[in-house]
Amino acid sequence: MAGEITTIDPQELFLQFFKKEKYRQKISQMAISGRESITVDFEEIFGFDQRLAEKLMEKPEGFLQHASNAAYAQLGIEDAEYARKIEKVTVRMVNLLGKEQLRKLGSKQMGKLVMVDGIVVRATPVRPMVMNAAFRCKRCGTVNLIEQSGQFLKAPPVCTSPDCGRDGPFEFVQDESTFIDSQDLRLQEKPEDLPPGQLPRTLNVKLVGSEIVDLARPGDHVSIVGIVQAFAPSRPGIGKLRVFILHLDANSIQVMGKEPETRPPSPEEEEKILALAKDPKVHKKIMDSIAPSIYGYTHIKEAIMYLLFGGVSKTLPDITVRGEMNALLIGDPGTAKSQLLQYVAKIAPRGLYTSGRGTTAAGLTAAVIREKGGSMSLEAGALVLADKGIACIDEMDKMRPEDRVAIHEAMEQHTVSVAKGGIVATLNARTAMLAAANPALGRYEPHRTVAENISLPVTILSRFDLIFVLRDVPNRDSDAKMSKHILEIHRRGSSPVEAQIEADLMRKYVSYAKAIKPVLSKDALKRLSEFYLAMRSASEAEGSPVAITARQLESLVRIAEARARVALKNKVSAEDAEAAITLMKRSLEEVGIDLSSYKMDIDIIMTGKPKSIRDKLQIILSILIEMEKETGMVEKAALISELEEKHKIPRAETERMIWQLLREGTIYEHREGYLKKT
Ligand SMILES: Nc1ncnc2c1ncn2[C@@H]1O[C@H](COP(=O)(O)OP(=O)(O)O)[C@@H](O)[C@H]1O
Ligand SMILES: [Mg+2]
Ligand SMILES: [Zn+2]
Repeated sequence: MAGEITTIDPQELFLQFFKKEKYRQKISQMAISGRESITVDFEEIFGFDQRLAEKLMEKPEGFLQHASNAAYAQLGIEDAEYARKIEKVTVRMVNLLGKEQLRKLGSKQMGKLVMVDGIVVRATPVRPMVMNAAFRCKRCGTVNLIEQSGQFLKAPPVCTSPDCGRDGPFEFVQDESTFIDSQDLRLQEKPEDLPPGQLPRTLNVKLVGSEIVDLARPGDHVSIVGIVQAFAPSRPGIGKLRVFILHLDANSIQVMGKEPETRPPSPEEEEKILALAKDPKVHKKIMDSIAPSIYGYTHIKEAIMYLLFGGVSKTLPDITVRGEMNALLIGDPGTAKSQLLQYVAKIAPRGLYTSGRGTTAAGLTAAVIREKGGSMSLEAGALVLADKGIACIDEMDKMRPEDRVAIHEAMEQHTVSVAKGGIVATLNARTAMLAAANPALGRYEPHRTVAENISLPVTILSRFDLIFVLRDVPNRDSDAKMSKHILEIHRRGSSPVEAQIEADLMRKYVSYAKAIKPVLSKDALKRLSEFYLAMRSASEAEGSPVAITARQLESLVRIAEARARVALKNKVSAEDAEAAITLMKRSLEEVGIDLSSYKMDIDIIMTGKPKSIRDKLQIILSILIEMEKETGMVEKAALISELEEKHKIPRAETERMIWQLLREGTIYEHREGYLKKT
């Protein structure tokens, strides 16, 4: 049929197309589902008539109208009654032959039909848009119906009543106008489509019709077919600008599967994956392939490995328990935190690197944004965009105040809820989190606890499965090794330690492993519960509050499951449990819990002060108050001597505590060297 397009009416061609059995059936079933549109696979049109398909892409506006007319005509044959009822059939195209890259859209595609992929980052609520506006002439009462197009509501220039013909005034009559559901989205390039080192671009998309609005939420990966439109923004009082802005008028939208779209491994790759999994040294091999140019930090790389693979999420009838892990690195400046995070974002499926502030107004969770026209829209933040992936959040302590509140839910329930400005929504954020933070005082103070060292509330800290401290302490031996390592990188321009597994295979390995859902073996269960109970009872005996909570037990399970997953095993062995315990112990010790003496104290995490320190602070304060009664204000040196002599508290310790009390504002320096209680 090619070549006949100029002589044969395109509508006639579409009618022939719709007489195919498949589409006749679709059309005859429209009434049952109450649909007013049919979905057409573009590939089938291409197979039917290549030139028709090409024309459809070239001049979509006219040709979609031809298709719509033809579908409606066919509906008249299949189901005349329903045809009378709905007046019009919309044809929605899916599956264009090729995807257009969002960043390549330009003047060439204006007015053309394209298909683009991306992530929905912003969405307005569904709003009624007027299609046919009724205007009553205030002079003669005639109702004028004006079909609407474009951005602004158009009133009739003059009254259409032959007896009137005057230019108004008119009033809009809502009851007699017809409306259609509409929604605006903002689509952003997917990270996997980004050229290296580029920031993602966005495109505004307009959805019209109840069948395509409200299908996608912020954070969803979608494929949209639509017509590229351009409009000239106007400057009030000057006129329209010569440079146009592109947007997409959507014809169809498809929400993609929730799993990251990594290609399934080829048979050769699968063979490599299975061989690697059988290697008894698989854990070490994978750890060594994580940021090989960063020296040391084996325990942190081990944690990152578990984070990449994750534990198993459990959905019970009443609750869900997350499988994804959260880890936090607190450390001195220049300890390669940012480097590690950036590396992980690169190798993780659906990895995302961001700073605590976030790269958009939505920050880490989500935000309701007021658009230029005054309407509200919901924008997804980093944790929503990295749904089912890993979010690497650098300088997390600098997050927005709104995120400090919302992140609790995101870290534990893996959702982000918003109720603001008329928008009520819950977005998914099933995201593993690798965060970094700088010490509040510039350097990590080992004598202070984690909570004192970092400006994050305990409620957030306790949601991390693992916390590690990176300290930059001069040490001749390790400094020499590290400088040799770094200098070697600079000399060779490559890492002295090669990654054993390259990034692409690693990503595939991780995706492959995620399909496995290991369960705890009896031995593993026994080992974990022994450890947990020992800690609980030990802290009980000490008379101190609970140190280890159910949260840590869940973390242990996640780590052990992740370790089994790394080796593609269905069962979590005692060995996996043991490794989880070792890593957890290390983390607990780093945050200041003394495991060797079992002197655990949740107060460390809660108030940032272990009980013994609190007792000493109490002594210092009471002595200070007593001395103050006698002398009005207390000489610092005298206070220190008093405590040393009468209470055997070393001078250095008293000094440190005075400093702390000053910082808290419990006491103040009345005059150089003289203290007073606030
Ligand atoms: N252990 C290490 N191995 C290799 N390079 C390191 C190491 N520690 C620090 N560096 C180097 O020091 C620089 C600072 O690292 P960066 O990630 O910016 O630190 P941070 O974010 O912790 O302040 C980087 O160039 C990094 O490669
Ligand atoms: Mg940094
Ligand atoms: Zn009139």
